[in-house]
Formats: sequence, structure tokens, C-alpha cells
Amino acid sequence: MRPHLFTLQSVALLGALIAATSGISDTTLDAEHQSAFHSQLQCRCLPSQACWPSVSTWTTFNQTVGGRLIATTPAARECREPYYNKAKCDEIQENYTSVVWRQNQPGAIINHNWETLNGQGCLGANQTTPCHQGSVPLFTVNATNVADVQASIRFAAHNNIRLVVKNTGHCFLGRSIAPHSLNLWTHHMKDMQVADAFVPEGAPQGTQGRGAIVLGAGVQWKEAYKFISQYGREVVGGGEGSVGTSGGFCLGGGGGPLSPRYGLCVDNVLQYKIITANGELRVANAYKNKDLFWALRGGGPGFGVVVEAIYKTHPALKNVNFAEIIIVAPEQAQMDKVVQDFYARQPAMSDEGWAGLAIVDRTSMMLRYFLPEAPNTQAKASLKPFLDYARSIPGVAVVGERVDDHAVYYTAWQDYVSIIPDKSAGANTVLGTRLIPRRLLESAKGVESFTSALRQLQDDVRDFVPKGGYLMFLSAGGQVAKGNSKDTSVLPAWRTTLLEFMLMAGWSDDTPVPQQLHIQQTVTAATEHLRKITRESGTYVNEADPNEPDWQRSFFGSNYPRLRVLKHKYDPKGLFVCRKCVGSEDWDNDLMCPRRP
Ligand SMILES: Cc1cc2nc3c(=O)[nH]c(=O)nc-3n(C[C@H](O)[C@H](O)[C@H](O)COP(=O)(O)OP(=O)(O)OC[C@H]3O[C@@H](n4cnc5c(N)ncnc54)[C@H](O)[C@@H]3O)c2cc1C
Ligand SMILES: *[C@@H]1O[C@H](CO)[C@@H](O)[C@H](O)[C@H]1NC(C)=O
Ligand SMILES: *[C@@H]1O[C@H](CO)[C@@H](O)[C@H](O)[C@H]1NC(C)=O
Ligand SMILES: *[C@@H]1O[C@H](CO)[C@@H](O)[C@H](O)[C@H]1NC(C)=O
Ligand SMILES: *[C@@H]1O[C@H](CO)[C@@H](O)[C@H](O)[C@H]1NC(C)=O
Repeated sequence: MRPHLFTLQSVALLGALIAATSGISDTTLDAEHQSAFHSQLQCRCLPSQACWPSVSTWTTFNQTVGGRLIATTPAARECREPYYNKAKCDEIQENYTSVVWRQNQPGAIINHNWETLNGQGCLGANQTTPCHQGSVPLFTVNATNVADVQASIRFAAHNNIRLVVKNTGHCFLGRSIAPHSLNLWTHHMKDMQVADAFVPEGAPQGTQGRGAIVLGAGVQWKEAYKFISQYGREVVGGGEGSVGTSGGFCLGGGGGPLSPRYGLCVDNVLQYKIITANGELRVANAYKNKDLFWALRGGGPGFGVVVEAIYKTHPALKNVNFAEIIIVAPEQAQMDKVVQDFYARQPAMSDEGWAGLAIVDRTSMMLRYFLPEAPNTQAKASLKPFLDYARSIPGVAVVGERVDDHAVYYTAWQDYVSIIPDKSAGANTVLGTRLIPRRLLESAKGVESFTSALRQLQDDVRDFVPKGGYLMFLSAGGQVAKGNSKDTSVLPAWRTTLLEFMLMAGWSDDTPVPQQLHIQQTVTAATEHLRKITRESGTYVNEADPNEPDWQRSFFGSNYPRLRVLKHKYDPKGLFVCRKCVGSEDWDNDLMCPRRP
């Protein structure tokens, strides 16, 4: 088995002060309501069954969506017999692992392990095994407007077909793909506008407008950043530019390097336009559909399909320092000292305004950290005690050290993502993650227990993550901790979090299924070392282990009961069911039939 290479992928999220969700009662479902809801759920229709729409019904639907219905096949199909096509296969071989290429294929997602079904699929560009449909949807609507979205939702609901929503296909929990399904593909809904004085619909007369960015469902962060930089404004988005602005990212929280300064994405939403399960276009904001607005800011996908998101913008940042530091050690013993010292400094660095990402393994560490709105001399002086300490350990060397001053955030961000290769997709990836509370890092004892848990975790995954590599994001604290929008459904633990830990594990395509399962189970078990010392915390729903235990509590905490009620209110038949999404415990493991009570 080829060990999975540790690829740098994301830059994530954040968190801060207890979300005393004032005004929100902890509504729960009583047994009677629960069973009434459950009785509305029915198994999805399969192509082999009489309920499946006829060819002429599909043809009529295709006309309704302007001929934008695509019979969807696995992305590598034309490299396999009997579908082999030289020109197409050359393109596939060239681009199979490209993020940009994969996101333009209706049937592909970023992490291709989710494209299989019961161990069968069509993975890899250079295989000779038969090509199976796997979990690749049967049909895709290449949506370009609201009417396409409404028609697709109504068609799936009316014919009781499994519906899946795919934007960029980045989901680590395989939520943007489903077998026997109709795929509502939002990637090409690219409208973007800037507003100087946006006033939410339904706001009282005289409400002061504010700077905002209006984003169609398919806009990606790299597009939004470039666009907004021309207006001398900033918007809080992902560290990774290929992530979507308006889909899963913000529904689940949404964070990146500017979050410590401006909060999570959910703290910055001004308004959503969303199509709910009955096909209705609704506006959700602080004045209209307030309960839905709450659910859409942290509750994850499953409440409808967002067609437009409007986020706050902020004045352009000046003097943005970007530091890239690389430290190497001969053995883990020395590296552990460096790492321990570094984590002990995180509360103070957060207070100074730093944010960023550390990529750590047994013998090396790379920092990619930002300090906005500070003189370059201050940024350098701030890092000096840590670098001096690292150098003082025999054998340890600082082999890379630059702290660059950027006049604007946009170029600092481009520098930050410059090491992320486009060809990092089309692999088998699962995560083990945890939000690390600030309080753990405020005492020497806490830091010691943290680093010792990390060491044990590295040992547990040694067979398939030999170098023990992981990512650690400083993307919470600061404004995330202040919780500038207490009325969100995001996991309350974000407000007391400082760091996000992320282990990425994977396997090669030829790994036998039992071994794949073993790797997944080992990741879940190894993360327990961190769960054990952070019981009050949880994990970021968008960057989570698909096998996360007790996921309702871990992803949503005390907000779960109310989210479940709202799920039933807006999606009573579970049209938008997805893996470990709110209300999915009402369904079987494959989410095709309701679970027998
Ligand atoms: C390489 C990489 C880097 C990342 N970097 C970051 C980061 O910096 N910060 C961060 O916070 N997260 C990051 N993430 C995690 C990211 O937030 C999640 O993967 C998120 O779900 C992506 O949303 P999407 O819409 O782009 O992707 P998709 O996989 O297309 O969608 C994700 C989920 O949202 C649903 N969905 C999509 N569009 C809509 C819509 N319009 N309406 C309703 N539901 C919709 C889908 O059905 C699916 O359930 C990263 C992930 C990857 C793979
Ligand atoms: C939908 O219609 C378009 C235009 O007529 C056609 O090219 C396409 O193949 C049709 N899709 C399906 C699934 O039949
Ligand atoms: C895919 O590969 C072809 C070569 O066959 C190349 O010309 C093209 O630019 C690639 N497309 C993408 C999106 O990378
Ligand atoms: C497939 O093989 C070609 C030619 O040997 C190589 O260039 C390409 O990287 C391979 N693609 C994958 C996805 O392994
Ligand atoms: C989807 O629609 C967009 C916009 O019309 C078009 O550019 C793209 O080629 C289409 N993709 C597919 C796979 O049909």
C-alpha cells in the first residue's frame, strides 16, 4: 500500500465566547410529533422500480430546465472499455487530480472515495477494471438560474427521487454526491455584485445600509476575493480559494485567515435567498423567516438550496504581514519541545492579532501566519522569542524565515495559498478533527496534556500517516470569540475555541475495502485522545470525520434540538437528507429509506 501523501488542503475556521443564544428556547420534539414526522418519510424511488419517471417524463423535465439535463457518468469512464475514447482519456489522465477540472465534471467530487458504492466505482485514470456508476448521480441539472433550481426541487419531490446538491464538491463527508440521484449542480451560478448600502428586505424604514457582497450560489472564494479587492473592501471567506462562497461553507460556519478579525462567515451573513422543499423562494434575514435564517447560519446543509448569499464587507486591510517559517529537528523529541512552546504562545499570539496555519509532523513544522494592520518590525519582533527558543534546542534549525509586508490582504492571501497544488484532488481522504479550547492552552499542564495527546494520536496512525503530519489552524479567537452575532446556530464551542486540529488520512485506490475501513476506524479512535481532554468542545461540521461519534452534539452542541425542529418545519419529507446532517438519524445508513422506528 502506498502511504497517502500528506497534502496541504484547507485553511479553516474558528471560534469564541459562549453563545448564550438568548431568545432561543430549547424546543424539542415530543414523541407524538416525532412519530407524525416520521410517518411522512418514504423510501426514495429507484431506477429499477415502477415509480421511476419514464423517458418521456425526463425529456419533458429536460425542456423545463432549458435542455440543461445531463445523463451523468463517472469522470474516468472514457478511459475504460467499452467506453474508451483516446482524446477524452488523454484529457482525463492529464487532469484527473486537478481541483479545477474535477469541479467542472458533473459526476466528480474532490475526494473520490465518495464516488464508490459498496466498494465499486470507477476511480483513477489508469485502471483497466470495469467502470461502475458507484455513487455518481444518474442525472445532473447544470443550473444557471432560480427557475432551474425550483424546477429540479419540484421534480425530485414530485417523483420522490433522491436529490443531491453539488456546488464545488469539496465536502469531506460525501454530502455532495449520492447514488440513484438527481444532482442539482450550482457551480455555474456565478453572479456577483457589490452593494455600498445594503438594507435587508423587510427592515424598518430608515435602517442604515451597509457594505455588502452579493454572491450567486456557484461563486468561489478566489473569485470573490479578486472581485472585492477592486473595491477596497474585504470579505471573510475560506483560506482555500476553490471552496464555494455560498453553499456548504457558510451554512456550516465558514472560516479563514480573516475570521479572528471579522468573525466566522455565519457572523457576517446579512441575507439569504433560498428555495425550500416546496419549491418556494424565501428571503431569510433578521426580519423575514428569522428561524430559517438562524438555522442557515451554522446548522449545515439540508434546509433548502441557497441561490443567493449576501455577506458584510469590511474596509480594506493595510499592512498585512505574512510570515512563512520552516523549522526542522533531527528527532521527534526536539520537535515536540518546539511544538509545545509554540502552542503555549497561541493565546498571546491570538491576542496580538495573528491568524494562520501550522503544518506539523514529527520532525518539521511550517507556519503560514498573518498579522494584519501592524508594522513589519512588530510582526518580526513578535515571532523572535519563539524562533530564539527553537534555535536554542540543539539540532533544531530554522531553515525558512520570511515575514513579508503586503500593502493589501489580497496579495498576502495569494502568497498564503501559493503552496497548495491544483493537482491535489481525486484522492481518498478522511479527516479526524477537533476544536481546541483556549483554556487548554492557558496553563502549562494543559499544553502538556495537549502535546502528549497529539503524540499518542500520531503513534496510533503511524501505519498510514508515517510522518505523523497534521494541520493546526489558528482561525478562532478574536472576533470569533466575541461572537458578534449571537443569533447563529453554529456550534457554541466555536466561541471558546482557539485552534482547529486536522488530521488527513487516506489510502491508494487499490487498497482492499477492509483495510480502508481499518484506516477510517483508526482515525476515529485516534482522535479520541483529543476528545478526551476537550469534552466541552466539539468539531467543525465542515471539516469532520464522517464517522464522528455522537455527531449531533459534536457538530451542533446545544443548538441541535432546535435545528431538528426547524428541519422538520422546512423539509418535512427529508428531501434534502444528507450524511450526518440535521435530522438524518430518521434515515437508514444509506439515506434511501426511513429508519424503522
Ligand atoms: C481543499 C479544501 C479546503 C477547505 N478550506 C476551508 C476553509 O478554508 N475554511 C472553511 O471553513 N472550510 C474549508 N473547507 C471545508 C468546506 O467549508 C466544506 O467542504 C464545505 O462543505 C464546502 O462547501 P461547497 O459548497 O464548496 O462544497 P460542496 O461539497 O459542493 O457542498 C457541501 C455541502 O453543502 C451543500 N450545498 C452546496 N451548495 C448548496 C446550496 N447552494 N444550498 C444548500 N446546500 C448547498 C451540499 O449539498 C453539501 O451537502 C475546505 C475543504 C476542502 C476540501
Ligand atoms: C437535454 O436536452 C439537451 C438539448 O436538447 C440535450 O443535448 C441533452 O442530451 C438532453 N439531456 C438528456 C439527459 O437527455
Ligand atoms: C485538461 O487536459 C488538457 C490536455 O488534454 C489541457 O489542455 C487542459 O487545459 C486541461 N484542463 C484543465 C481544466 O486543467
Ligand atoms: C496516468 O498515467 C499517465 C501516463 O503514464 C500519467 O501521466 C498520469 O499522471 C497518470 N494519472 C493518474 C491519475 O494516475
Ligand atoms: C454547464 O453550463 C455552463 C454555463 O452554461 C457551461 O459553460 C458548461 O460547459 C456546462 N457544463 C456541462 C458539463 O455541461
